[in-house]
Amino acid sequence: MTMTALQPEVHHAVKDGLQLEVTDVTRQTESIVSITFADPSGAPLPSYVPGSHLVVQCGTGANAYSLTGSGTAPSEYTISVLQVADGAGGSLAMHRLAAGDLVYVSRPRSAFAPAATARHFLLVAAGIGITPVLSHARACAEWGIAADLIYVHRPGAGAHVTEAKELLGSAVTECSDRVSFQKTLAEKLTTQPLGTHLYVCGPVAFMDAVLDQAREHGWPSARLHSEAFGAAELDAGEPFTVNLARSGVKLNVPAGVSLLETLEQAGKAIPNMCRKGICGECSLSVLRGKPQHRDLYLSDQEKAENTTMMCCVSRSLDEELELDL
Ligand code: FES
Repeated sequence: MTMTALQPEVHHAVKDGLQLEVTDVTRQTESIVSITFADPSGAPLPSYVPGSHLVVQCGTGANAYSLTGSGTAPSEYTISVLQVADGAGGSLAMHRLAAGDLVYVSRPRSAFAPAATARHFLLVAAGIGITPVLSHARACAEWGIAADLIYVHRPGAGAHVTEAKELLGSAVTECSDRVSFQKTLAEKLTTQPLGTHLYVCGPVAFMDAVLDQAREHGWPSARLHSEAFGAAELDAGEPFTVNLARSGVKLNVPAGVSLLETLEQAGKAIPNMCRKGICGECSLSVLRGKPQHRDLYLSDQEKAENTTMMCCVSRSLDEELELDL
């Protein structure tokens, strides 16, 4: 019998991934650790655009984490992970990783890329939302582009503060209470030079408030960018209909029920793993209609093409979608 026959089959929750070794674990705060991965052979890793994320398979689950580097010619990937006590356990498993452990990760994916036309950046982060924002700050420092950063965190609980200040100096403003944040945000929103793009990452309610305030101050939507943490906080969405072209079946997808669940209830076996829009397993081909993309797997360009969708989280902008099923 060969060794291969004795080994259990490992189903990787991320497509076309890389097996990397944990090379460093550094505690940032009581509840946040930074974890660094490298290729065990020392080979360079695929580069990425600032604001990209990795899907890391840890235990039986897979989760997406923002990369904190600038993405230029990386020899290692670093992420920071907040321990969520009442989460599904993924963050606890990540906090148990130690140097020498092997993990399976996706290639970096981008859903929060810097605009090529941006002449200045206003970066706004709350809590663990600092991670993709730090990636942008690092890129700004490397490219010589000016940026302001507002970082909201609980007193004494800021991660990566020293690094952010090394990158952007006095352009970093820390806020630990609502009043000082509101005052700083209002001032920054009204004093940015022409061509500034705003990038915000944090809890959904926080991001909505920042974006609303920016719009009230006349910022056009094209200059506003936000990144949510996975699919956990997605709303129920609107109902829509799917027309399955090959099987000639029409199905109603009610609000609060995913397209994947609707297809499963109709007896369709759709491959899936994470059911959170991050692994890419549940991808379906779209023949007609505009999907409402809510996943973290497809790139911005793939989303704009509207020919593929992740049915575990994405829905429809049109009343009806036609799928190649
Ligand atoms: S099941 Fe992972 S993206 Fe849908």
